[in-house]
Amino acid sequence: MTSYTDGDIDTNRTANPHLNDLIEVRYSRRQTLMGGLTAATAAVFGGMLLAGCDDDGGNGSDPVTVTAGSSANAAAGRPVTLTGSAIGQVDGVAWTQVSGPTVTLNNANTATATFIAPGVASGTALVFRFTATAAGGTTTADTTVTIGAASLGFTAVPKSLADVVAVPAGYAVTVLYRLGDPIGNGVAAYANNGTDGNFAQRAGDHHDGMSYFGMSAAGAPDVNGNTRGLLVLNHENISQPYLHANGPTTVAGARPEAEALKEMECHGVSVIEVNRAADWSYAPTSSFNRRITPLTPMTFSGPVRGNDSLKTRYSPDGTAGRGTINNCANGTMPWHTYLTNEENWVGYFRRETGDALRRAATGAVGVKANTSLTRYGKSESNTGGNYGWATVTPADPASTAYARWNITAQASAPTDGTGDFRNEIFQYGWVVEIDPFDPASTPRKRTALGRMNHEGCEIGRTIAGVKPAFYMGDDAQNEYIYKFVSATPWSAADASNTNRLAMGDKYLDAGTLYVAKFNADGSGQWLPLVFGQGPLTAANAAYPFSSQADVLINARLAGDALGATRMDRPEWTAVNPATGEMYCTLTNNSSRTVATVDAPNPRAYVDPKTTTGSTTGNANGHVIRLREAGDTSEALTFAWDIYAFGAGSDLDATNINLSGLDATNDFSSPDGMWFGLPSNASGLITPVMWLQTDDGAYTDVTNCMMLAAIPGTVNDGATRSVTNTIAGASSTVSTRVGKAPGASLRRFLVGPKECEITGVHSTPDGRSLFINIQHPGENGGPTNITSSWPANQAGAVTVPSRPRSATIVITKTDGGVVGL
Ligand code: FEO
Ligand code: CA
Ligand code: CA
Repeated sequence: MTSYTDGDIDTNRTANPHLNDLIEVRYSRRQTLMGGLTAATAAVFGGMLLAGCDDDGGNGSDPVTVTAGSSANAAAGRPVTLTGSAIGQVDGVAWTQVSGPTVTLNNANTATATFIAPGVASGTALVFRFTATAAGGTTTADTTVTIGAASLGFTAVPKSLADVVAVPAGYAVTVLYRLGDPIGNGVAAYANNGTDGNFAQRAGDHHDGMSYFGMSAAGAPDVNGNTRGLLVLNHENISQPYLHANGPTTVAGARPEAEALKEMECHGVSVIEVNRAADWSYAPTSSFNRRITPLTPMTFSGPVRGNDSLKTRYSPDGTAGRGTINNCANGTMPWHTYLTNEENWVGYFRRETGDALRRAATGAVGVKANTSLTRYGKSESNTGGNYGWATVTPADPASTAYARWNITAQASAPTDGTGDFRNEIFQYGWVVEIDPFDPASTPRKRTALGRMNHEGCEIGRTIAGVKPAFYMGDDAQNEYIYKFVSATPWSAADASNTNRLAMGDKYLDAGTLYVAKFNADGSGQWLPLVFGQGPLTAANAAYPFSSQADVLINARLAGDALGATRMDRPEWTAVNPATGEMYCTLTNNSSRTVATVDAPNPRAYVDPKTTTGSTTGNANGHVIRLREAGDTSEALTFAWDIYAFGAGSDLDATNINLSGLDATNDFSSPDGMWFGLPSNASGLITPVMWLQTDDGAYTDVTNCMMLAAIPGTVNDGATRSVTNTIAGASSTVSTRVGKAPGASLRRFLVGPKECEITGVHSTPDGRSLFINIQHPGENGGPTNITSSWPANQAGAVTVPSRPRSATIVITKTDGGVVGL
């Protein structure tokens, strides 16, 4: 048997008029049926070619009859089964490809070979030959399979409020890697009752952005590694109540050290080895397994390394730091490293009343620091710090692992920051590069890419001799979209360089950071964040810039000065591998008003709930996309339109549901987004785009979801006028809406209760898709368990089980490319 349990097509449908004759031959004489043909019955005979072995110099043996099946059609990415038959005394059979785009034939030396239909633009004929070898020579028969363009090959999953991951018929879900799962020798199984510790050797919480890296038997990167790899994923945040037996505690105003340590270690990144045998599993004791946490040593690279703003008591020279926090989306580098992105780091720090005055008293540097802290959202509060880690009194009095979360300038400390942690907050907000293939490597914070609420950082197409671009969203209301263009043109050989972090140094430490300005006419510009150019000088009144490092640390202030376009919360970026067009999710914006709508952020409205309440502003978000001038990553201008607007399908089709969504594809708050890999049909010619939601506006109707799309191109739609009305105020704005997606956008998955769907990547062959389910049951706690996922994925549980964020694998039961 092959691993494909059912071919998408049957190449052997035609009953052959000579069937009775053949059966008569078959059973009237001694003969052998090769290649498991004993199961062949009348149905397999079609397109028969009969030839006598003695054509090739005959030895007087009986003739051999072979058939290769009738011609058939299949769409790109779907499995095809070729069934040949040979009747007569044959020594062997084989399938070979005669013409058409080359495919990999599985079980080619048997009568039943299989292959995955390749990506093609339109109907393309592939001819295959079935050959039987007998004593007297060979006998052959050909068959033609015509491959069509990729199309979504599943029935839309209905919206759902059920506490389970739902996928289309014909797909299977495997729960792979859950909060607390052990990844080290001797680590106990997860009790999941709040008593577990040692999360430096367990899966963290809130699985988020994720990349799969194929790995060879020797432990090296393998771009064809479909059954063994390293999965690298972010642990963005925590569902704090479930981590402790009775929820979090605070004693005399201070958090217990053990609880705070557990919460810290539940953040960061996992590197785990995964393997596919009959099914996927992770290797709990692999030497590649690694947890990177807020305590893991890091170094700084790029223009900000050693800058005064990075100097702390821990790193008096400003070149090193501890850990990474609130790691949201990812980036997969072609040289096989992983980018993790620090998003909502501001909230973890405590800044006490009086800090601003104390900084200001130190002079111009302190005044600028206050401006910066305000712009990045860090106001003074004596209760500050998400989880109160700064309140811990550690057992080891020399430890600063907790004190560093308090950025208040200490009166007794030197004003340069080397005696306290006033600058610790400037050590966060960066893109961090990790080499997953070297567990001993030190991650590097790549400062040339700027400091912001980094959602993700994805590289565009790499073309030899052209400087690659890296696209980034700054996820907060009214923030900007950025791209970094490396100073170094791409060299394809670098993809296989074994000094992977040196490749990061080469491409990520020098270059130009740009911020996007979207014009009303559908054009746009990339504005350079270069010290000394335009307003980015010491003469800038709002914030006098002093260096390129100052510009990068304060990318938001630089974007303000340059007049960048304020967007509806830029989340993930993704680049269509066939066209190079860049997509960015704009998840929602409750502060968008009828007075502040513009062409790229054209909606402000009231989205009523079916329960109580409503959401106002851009309640459901949209997906913007751009095409670089000249289709080059180095471009300074672009054209843009809006691929799709989120909306309930019941909302006003004229002014809100602008993409004409219906029950099969209506969604809200797009967030995670990724295109299929060009190593399989889901990333070729008309690639599949995966779109995930992190929603609060439509959750009265459905849990969060993932959709699949085969999108068109920038400007495939039309200019459209939108009238926004809130509480009697209204305004009209013109925008550019892409062609209505219709059936080319389709709901593929709905998650369990109170979750977000995020993180998506696949094996090179596209037949295994990895997805993260983040914070199921996030509104509950130990005494109010609101989701039992994933314990209930295989069937309802009788006793509620604390929910766990988890990675799942989705496969198609016929073995085809997921989504097609
Ligand atoms: Fe971590 Fe903006 O989502
Ligand atoms: Ca996100
Ligand atoms: Ca989000």
